[in-house]
Amino acid sequence: MKITAIMGSPRKGNTLDAVRKIEAEILAVDPTVEVNYVFLKDTKLEPCRGCFACIGRGEELCPHKDALSDVLNTMLDADGVIIASPSYVQSVPALMKNFIDRAAYLCHRPVFFDKPCLVVVTSCGGGIKETLTYLSKIMRSWGFASTLNLGIMMHPAMGYSPKTLANIRRTAQQFLATVRQGDKTVPGLLDLMQFRMMRFNAQMDQKHFPADVLFYADKNDYYLPSRAGALKSGAARVFEKLIVRIMDATM
Ligand SMILES: Cc1cc2nc3c(=O)[nH]c(=O)nc-3n(C[C@H](O)[C@H](O)[C@H](O)COP(=O)(O)O)c2cc1C
Repeated sequence: MKITAIMGSPRKGNTLDAVRKIEAEILAVDPTVEVNYVFLKDTKLEPCRGCFACIGRGEELCPHKDALSDVLNTMLDADGVIIASPSYVQSVPALMKNFIDRAAYLCHRPVFFDKPCLVVVTSCGGGIKETLTYLSKIMRSWGFASTLNLGIMMHPAMGYSPKTLANIRRTAQQFLATVRQGDKTVPGLLDLMQFRMMRFNAQMDQKHFPADVLFYADKNDYYLPSRAGALKSGAARVFEKLIVRIMDATM
């Protein structure tokens, strides 16, 4: 089994140390697991120019020809993904933000459905909750059906507390168990509604979102042949009809 760890810090410091600990806990259970590290700081990713080409007309039209698709392919190729970042002033460092911006089209056309994601955030104590919430929200919008969150307070004057070490062990084992079973999470009503909103958005503005129109053309109830029950799918359908009516009435 392969796990890809996307490392968002501009240095190899606390966050790497924490992820190495997670790796050690995983290998203690299953020494055959392979953890591949992608250090964004060592990866050629030009700053997003805000041209909208990827979102509107297709990611292959991004003006930058650099390592973005290699990084995303490493994630696609893995059975599970770790997204790890320090918290800088309540959010992620610019390096991680640029990666997220460069892959913004994934919020429109998500792809990572068959694998879980572990979000790891370190800080001196502030901003952990905000940064975890931000990153896990993005990862959900990229398609990961489940995200596990691990926030680690790492003050330079203190080592890892026994409680933190126990939390790292527990989370690593939980993540490994999810990776092993493959992600079988059933989409919730909100996921189904969000799918319909994105598809509706594409249909409403075909001129600006031709890549989305193509992406959603063969998708009915959800991004994947739906594992959600008839009741939830029906509720999401009613929701979409309501939105269409409201839009018709207001435009
Ligand atoms: C520019 C910058 C901003 C930071 N902002 C915060 C902050 O708002 N709150 C906090 O508790 N720690 C903050 N930190 C501390 C880091 O989040 C913390 O040291 C983290 O573990 C560093 O991880 P790294 O060694 O992997 O880069 C900041 C550090 C830097 C360099």
